[in-house]
Amino acid sequence: MTTQTRIRTVRLLSLGMLFLFLISGILYWQAVGADLGNPRADFWRVVREGIPAYTTTPSQGHTVLIVNGGENWREIRNGFIMRFSQWVPGVVLAVIALLYLIVGGDKLEKPRSGVKVERWTFGERFLHWYTAVIFIIMGITGLSLLLGRIALIPLFGHPIISGWLGASKVVHNYCGPLLLVGIFLEFVIWIRHNIPKKFDLEWLKRLGGQIGSGPRPHAEKINAGEKAWFWVMFLFGIGVGTTGILLDFPIWGQTRFAMQVSHVIHAIVAVLFVSLSFGHIYMGTLGVEGVFESMWTGYVDAVWAQQNHDLWYEEKMRQKGEKPVASSE
Ligand code: HEM
Repeated sequence: MTTQTRIRTVRLLSLGMLFLFLISGILYWQAVGADLGNPRADFWRVVREGIPAYTTTPSQGHTVLIVNGGENWREIRNGFIMRFSQWVPGVVLAVIALLYLIVGGDKLEKPRSGVKVERWTFGERFLHWYTAVIFIIMGITGLSLLLGRIALIPLFGHPIISGWLGASKVVHNYCGPLLLVGIFLEFVIWIRHNIPKKFDLEWLKRLGGQIGSGPRPHAEKINAGEKAWFWVMFLFGIGVGTTGILLDFPIWGQTRFAMQVSHVIHAIVAVLFVSLSFGHIYMGTLGVEGVFESMWTGYVDAVWAQQNHDLWYEEKMRQKGEKPVASSE
């Protein structure tokens, strides 16, 4: 090989290598670019920039397709709130189950006397059951909306649950104001019996005599546990009520942020409300003998009245000018 041919070969090889280097460089940068740029991420990044557009809707924020805060709200709702709404009711149920297993239901200490005492009028019982039924409907529909995707779809499948959730949303939205009417009327009618007194503390400490020894703590027509539930109803009712109404009527000009905050408060307060209601439902059924019968029939046995609401029973007998049956035995 002459020197000329050798030089030409080296030049050709160098050019080829340069060419290969260039090609691999281009391929490399293309590959790196493809890895870094997720087309979906780019798309959502642009959407979340909140660039205003044009719509014919007159409501606030109507020009922005997706508000950044909405994504943050979605993360809170699908993260913290969904976890919270499974754990808190579960823990409350477990505590109640333990209480039942360890302490057991509160039974009548003496045989029934057969003497009936009126405790609730028809109107009061109607109001109680009206509010209770709507509360249960609100609890079932609200929790279905919140947890339906993870709890119900795997059990019943998409077709059934999409129908159920569609109906739940409508029922929840319409029954909300009806629940508020019940809570408001209960508040007005029963507040006079629910003012906390000093001796109520003793009732709470000893769970109405179910814990510890000694004579049963005093109780008026409404005992301390029922008074606590009354105030929970009132305060949590205001919590779910105001936020629920804001969610029900987005036409009042509230911002999306106000709706998001309302939703977060609404869901947290509602889950706590439902969890605390388990305590009331337990005391009204398995927890204390005769309580369900009292709210169902309106009457209680004199022995029950003496054991569970001594001050109310004695006052009632005084008003009627009669001798208390239970203590006269
Ligand atoms: C026991 C009482 C209540 C419970 C347990 C409850 C529960 C819930 C829950 C968990 C949600 C969130 C659903 C989700 O994130 O998908 C929700 C949403 C909602 N609640 Fe309630 N709530 C109660 C009372 C009320 C009241 C009193 C009102 C109205 C006055 C109301 C109106 C609403 C509205 C409008 C929504 C939004 C529903 C939607 O997604 O369109 N709620 N509720």
